[in-house]
Formats: sequence, structure tokens, C-alpha cells
Amino acid sequence: MLTNNISYGKQSIDDSDIDAVIETLKSDRLTQGSKVDEFEESLAKYCGAKYAVAVSSATAGLHLAYQVLGLSAHDEIITSPITFAATTNAALYLGAEVKFVDIVSRTVLMDNDKIEENISSKTKIIVPVHFAGLASDMVEISRIATKHNLKIVEDAAHALGARYYNGKKVGCCDYSDMTVFSFHPVKSITTGEGGAITTNSKDLYDKLKLLRSHGIVRDSADHKYKSSVPYYHEMQYLGYNYRMTDIQAALGISQLKRLDKFVKRRNLISNFYRINFLDNSKICALENLDGRYNAYHLFVMLLDDKEKRNKLISFLESKKISTQIHYMPVYKHPYYIDKGYNISLANAEDYYERCVSLPIYPAMEEFEAKLVTEYIKEFINLY
Ligand SMILES: Cc1ncc(COP(=O)(O)O)c(C=O)c1O
Repeated sequence: MLTNNISYGKQSIDDSDIDAVIETLKSDRLTQGSKVDEFEESLAKYCGAKYAVAVSSATAGLHLAYQVLGLSAHDEIITSPITFAATTNAALYLGAEVKFVDIVSRTVLMDNDKIEENISSKTKIIVPVHFAGLASDMVEISRIATKHNLKIVEDAAHALGARYYNGKKVGCCDYSDMTVFSFHPVKSITTGEGGAITTNSKDLYDKLKLLRSHGIVRDSADHKYKSSVPYYHEMQYLGYNYRMTDIQAALGISQLKRLDKFVKRRNLISNFYRINFLDNSKICALENLDGRYNAYHLFVMLLDDKEKRNKLISFLESKKISTQIHYMPVYKHPYYIDKGYNISLANAEDYYERCVSLPIYPAMEEFEAKLVTEYIKEFINLY
């Protein structure tokens, strides 16, 4: 008998995480200390990128990434409509616009064959979203970007720990200018709130660090004006406070050590779901592309229609199992409609009607995965 709810996602915190946080709480520096540097070094090393910049959220990371690439009013980004609104909101913060490209139904990744027809003279950045933890085809996206002289920012909020088809880790930035991660509690690892940007460009790295902390320059060698005043510092750019604290970074360092285990566990649960619903004509899982190691932030299944999907969600809720819908196409949000995004993309619309994200997280017990599966089978036999 299930006593607690099974949620669609949650963090995995153990004693080593708690000890790491306590140690930092007892130290002199709660923020702007050495833990952030240490976390950044570990993350960059893990991903195989030269640099990582830790920030307060992936939303902040996307904002900074777009800004350091010079995105501004009347420029456009190209991205998928099936993403969290932050992917595109960050472009709107800079006065830019968004071109939404429809998805491929079986993977929910942006349809690369439709990117070029959406490129205009305003297009500046392509933003592939590695949806649910599945890496996009970056070789093809980077071919298109090079041909049209565009930049690439990977939204990898779902995909820390995932690999491209050639085994390289998402975040290595071999195919992009920058990759952005989220450390919200339901993601691959958590820092409470938090995010990071990886890059191989020293120039972008320096700019990201500057804008993360108010655009203030402390090193006298980089000052525009010379001053003999002690502690003299200059604000040279309009930056933000998008810093991650050392408390969060300490948690991140500790979590990163278990990242591979977390992702492995997510893969085991996904396989369990997959095997159970193989050849089921009434419900099917999104496809996992051959050779790509999926981080399985989400495990999404599709039903025949909206009514059945909604009924399944209610049925599972009555059994204390919570699911989610990821996502409504971003252009359907009232804010976007009011801004004139009066569009409808067939595959994105169809997906939104039929999708449901099942519970998946590293600490999920086998009996819980079985229970979810059994209840879904029970529902399917009724309808
Ligand atoms: C695809 C995607 N991008 C960006 C974000 C924003 O992440 P954060 O909550 O860390 O700002 C999310 C959060 O869920 C997301 O799913």
C-alpha cells in the first residue's frame, strides 16, 4: 500500500550533500568564496569544456548567454515551442523575437529539416533544446549555423549527464558557443535553484563572469580609468546579480560526484517503463535515438487523444501518483499571444494534447515504478 505520493520528479539528497552544505555554512564565505570556483572546475571537467560559469538559474544563464552573443532588439532566436518558457523569455528580456520551429513527433526535438526555412536576416542564435534529456543532432545544427553564420546556445536544462551519438558529453561545446544547464531540484543534479553555462571561448567566459556580477571590474589592469583610491572598482557594463552562492556550489560539488549514478538509475527506470509498454497500441513512449545516452530528466508517454490523457492523469492522481505535462507550446501562453505570436505548429499542438510525463527520479523504488506501470495498464484496459 502506497503511503506517500509518488511525484513526477524530485531531488536525491544524502548525508554527504548535507555535510558539504554544513561545512560551507560554518566557513567564512557563504558567497563569492572558493566553492563556486571549485564547482565550475568540476563541471567543466565533467563535460569536457574549457570553462563553466555557475549562475543563479538556467534562466539567468540563458539571459547571459544570449546577451554575450550580442542578441538585441529585433534580432531573432530559433527554437522549439516545446520547452519551458525560460528558453524564449530570456530572448524577450533583450528585446529580441522568437521563431518557433515545429518538433519531430517521435522525439520532440526541434525538426532540423525546418530550421533553414525559418532563418531570416534577423536570425542570430539557434537554440536546440535537448528535450527530456535526449541530445539534439548537433552535427546537423552546427552545419546549418556555420552555413548561415549563426551562433548556437544549447538549452541543456534537461540534459546534464547525457551524451551525443558519438559519446561526447552534452556541455562539451564542440558544436556550440555555449551550453546552459539547470540545477532545479527535479533536474539531473540540484543546487536548490541554480544553473551554469559551459563554453570553450575565453572571450565569452570573461564576458559571462563580468555580467554575472553587475558588470563590475575589480582588476586594476582592466580598468578604464586609473585610480589610487583603495578598493577602486569600475562598473563597465550593465550587469546583474546572477551569482550562485557557495552554499549552493558546495551542494553542486557533492551532487556532481553522483551524477553518473543518478543518470544510470534514470535509464534503468526508463527501460522498465519501455519494456512494459512495448507494442502497446494504446500508449507509447517517446523514441530514444540509437547511440545517444539519454539523461531521462523526463519519461514522456503519448496517449491516443487529449480526453484519454486527461483521464489517465486523474486516475493516477486518485492513486497518489502525480504526473506532469511538459509542455504547452510556449507561443500559446497569453503573454506570447498578446505579443502577436499567433501561430499553430501541427506536431507541437498534437503532442501537447497527448503527452504525459511519468514519475522518474533516481531514488524511485522498483516497487514504485511497478505500481505506476500496473495502474497505467489497469487504466488502459478500462478505456
Ligand atoms: C528546457 C528548460 N530551459 C530552461 C529552464 C529554466 O531553468 P531554471 O529553473 O534553472 O531557471 C527550464 C526549467 O525547467 C527548462 O526545462
